[in-house]
Amino acid sequence: MTPSIISDLGIFGGAPAFKEKLYVGRPNIGNRDRLIERINRMLDTRWLSNDGPLVSEFEKRVADYIGVKHCVAMCNATIAMEIAVRALGMSGEVIIPSFTFIATAHALQWQQITPVFCDIEPATHLLDPRRIEELITPRTTGIVGVHLWGRGCDVEAIAAIAERHKLKVLFDAAHAFACSHQGRMIGGFGDAEVFSFHATKFFNTLEGGAVATNDEDLAKRIRLMKNFGFTYWDQVSYLGTNGKMTEISAAMGLTSLESLDEFVTANRTNYEQYLTLLTGTPGVRLLPYDSSEKYNYQYIVLELDENVAGITRDQLVQILWAENVIARRYFYPGCHRMEPYFTDYPDAGLLLPITEKVADRVITLPTGTAVSEDQIATICQIIKIAVSHGEEIQRRLTEHQSALPQHLTSAGTAR
Ligand SMILES: Cc1ncc(COP(=O)(O)O)c(C=O)c1O
Repeated sequence: MTPSIISDLGIFGGAPAFKEKLYVGRPNIGNRDRLIERINRMLDTRWLSNDGPLVSEFEKRVADYIGVKHCVAMCNATIAMEIAVRALGMSGEVIIPSFTFIATAHALQWQQITPVFCDIEPATHLLDPRRIEELITPRTTGIVGVHLWGRGCDVEAIAAIAERHKLKVLFDAAHAFACSHQGRMIGGFGDAEVFSFHATKFFNTLEGGAVATNDEDLAKRIRLMKNFGFTYWDQVSYLGTNGKMTEISAAMGLTSLESLDEFVTANRTNYEQYLTLLTGTPGVRLLPYDSSEKYNYQYIVLELDENVAGITRDQLVQILWAENVIARRYFYPGCHRMEPYFTDYPDAGLLLPITEKVADRVITLPTGTAVSEDQIATICQIIKIAVSHGEEIQRRLTEHQSALPQHLTSAGTAR
């Protein structure tokens, strides 16, 4: 039932607006017949992994689509980043934003590299290039920019800093497949860029990722590293690991590529509906997309100003969860407040005031092909009721906090 007054809200005992949970990142599925056809072919040939024909075709299609010379498909973006970081010879310290998914930091730490957290710009949530140089030390070897929400970082400013200090540049483009920056497709910037094709991304290969680069030597090293360092049958010339994408993932990827435009259109339509319905709601701002660039519109990013709305971001999340809208607090509380980084640098937050502020304000909302127009209208209606009665809700929630079920008092932060 769509709530129309406060006492209808699920958090105060009303029936939830949705019978089933609505998740952020519910997978988009392309044409099933095409997928099954490809899987059947794969089963017929009995070629399931190890650079099979589907992975080769997928790599070629992705490279052509984004206009880069080399695409190396991998089992996921985290391993792809670890391999890229190693292949680039990064070591010591590498500068990254803290406002990102934890994998960006872990991929470095896993390679014994210290991630040094840099603050972000408040309007875009992207790495602030003006804060980078003050973090450079003699141990710094690189910068990993994150194209958060599919928006390109200030790659020009980052490139200029990297050139001045002889640093390598990698971009975590996990959110940015099918997006452009300054009219050029993301994938060809920096020394390399890494995409994620995880099931929760708008374009998925079940699990998967890829490194894109125009550097032929780097691509060769990455190919060796993701296959144990094998250069020939029985010949290993490099320290490698296992980062291979399977054929079934590539089958999903090739099929998803055929529906890419449809996925983007659905996300864009959803975004525009959210924007229309929420514009003017006090304390609510949707992160805008710049009409001169290409986007995948896969994230509906809402920032809540609690001073205007009268309720906190976490209270709004509790209200939405009680309606079975599993909105998420991305990327709360920031990598610097997660382990092992918090124990190592408990005061890192002092240098990250914008990160701390933004991490306390952001909610992402359900979108994708699995979400309907009616569902979005209901979600917006819940948000409007919550925000327009902020003070009363705040009072009732504070009084009844101890009576709330536990799943509504702690909204999780895994992806
Ligand atoms: C910004 C960012 N970086 C890295 C990753 C890791 O991607 P994967 O799950 O493919 O390893 C994600 C995944 O959610 C992400 O959002």
